[in-house]
Amino acid sequence: MTNITTDRILIVGAGMGALYAALKLAPRPVVLISPETLGEGASSAWAQGGVAAAMDADDSPDDHARDTVKAGAGTVDPAVADLVTGDARRYILDLTSMGTPFDRTENGDYVMSREAAHSFARVVRVKGDQAGAQIMAALIEQVRETPSIQALEGVMAVDLETDNGRVTGVVVQAAGDARSAPITLRAPAVLLAGGGSGGLYAVTTNPPRIRGQVIGMAARAGAQIADAEFVQFHPTAMDVGEDPAPLATEALRGEGATLINKDGARFMTAIHPDAELAPRDVVARAIYAQTQAGLRPMLDTRDVLGERIKELYPAVAEACARNGIDPAVEPIPVAAAAHYHMGGIATDTDGKSTLEGLWVCGEASSTGLHGANRLASNGLLEALVYARICAEGILNEVEAVNEASPVELKFDAGGTPPDAEAVMALRQCMTDNVGVERDAAGLKAALRTLAQLEAAHGESPSFLNMCATATMIAAGALLREESRGAHERIDFPETNAGPAKRSQMHLREAMALRDQICEEKQ
Ligand code: SIN
Repeated sequence: MTNITTDRILIVGAGMGALYAALKLAPRPVVLISPETLGEGASSAWAQGGVAAAMDADDSPDDHARDTVKAGAGTVDPAVADLVTGDARRYILDLTSMGTPFDRTENGDYVMSREAAHSFARVVRVKGDQAGAQIMAALIEQVRETPSIQALEGVMAVDLETDNGRVTGVVVQAAGDARSAPITLRAPAVLLAGGGSGGLYAVTTNPPRIRGQVIGMAARAGAQIADAEFVQFHPTAMDVGEDPAPLATEALRGEGATLINKDGARFMTAIHPDAELAPRDVVARAIYAQTQAGLRPMLDTRDVLGERIKELYPAVAEACARNGIDPAVEPIPVAAAAHYHMGGIATDTDGKSTLEGLWVCGEASSTGLHGANRLASNGLLEALVYARICAEGILNEVEAVNEASPVELKFDAGGTPPDAEAVMALRQCMTDNVGVERDAAGLKAALRTLAQLEAAHGESPSFLNMCATATMIAAGALLREESRGAHERIDFPETNAGPAKRSQMHLREAMALRDQICEEKQ
């Protein structure tokens, strides 16, 4: 294998956490490893709602932290909630100074959206549903103008190189042509910021390349994974036959949009006092139940927004138009879809993983902020806060270097891409068995299928990464014999009494459980 050694810090990913960290590291030279052109393919750019931050004089970081802890169903680390919410305002001001055109009132105050389980309208937004895209555009402009940042676009990380428990480099392949021979990039530090796992499910709101590969490669390198079983399903992905499913932002329900079924019945009022603004896991289960019962749930924006949805929520309106739906006159069909992985690579409050030389931020990490059910729009905030923390940690710990030559890659032929049919089989298996509702029989079936798929297609490192993360999710879900937040066990419907525990696991433990299940008589 070709090896290249660089003095640059390697950042895997090109979403909000990756770009913000690269800017906070400047002028320390970095390389961003981005599978696509910057701005494409990252979940952050698809985020509609915005960034949660207590910006209003009547709101407070304490209230924001309290809502975060409450939504997380007992497994949020309160110190992390305080850390992330306490400084939120500073990040909004920083993004504003970088050119993000947040919606403002005539007085210059930030316009705040209301989202589920927030006790206050607390989500800063851009043109209704454009926050992710617009923040990313502002960051990309800054990144392109920063000479210390080299973006390697069209390059995919597939493995981590380790030496005695220390991460020493990243193995990469050409992303567009996964038949390229791998190259090892050796560097003084690695920051993983390459997104979550939603695309491991057949029904998801995540971009196609977000399939648990970054979490999987860290797990395969020996990093500890936390809360793997906690996967958030968004209640209002549009059920229009697209893969990925377009999102209809929760901010629409914040505006007063209702959920009805094919009989016109508004079903959330009977389920939770907050109706459509109940915590996301509650609404997702209700939507899933309606779908399973053949009642075709729909989001009805007609009365509250009418024609205005087309101007106020352009991304939603565009997805509707593409699918022949006029939301001003008809409700939007919706389904629950895998949206956000609360679990991920375990990190401490400095953003460090259990492997030396490896920092993590954004959805790939599990910091303890989200618990079993992430509060809406806390994802982007966490990515920003930990991107800065990781950048500061790297600058403190890694020898200062002022200049470094650009990395030049020339890929030879070789390598094995993931088999498309095997990927689809894995995704279907996850949706069928490790989805909104889980039980031991389904989770064991998933583990057996994952073992078979891995045995048949294990020559592709990218597919091994997907299998590793999927195995951790299924194993974690099997071991957690209770229902909590987004993790619903129909064979263990109660939440355990007493203090809740976060789960911590290494891949070898999940694999041992998988082997044991495969040996059991069915
Ligand atoms: C949404 O806009 O509904 C999604 C926001 C989020 O997942 O944080």
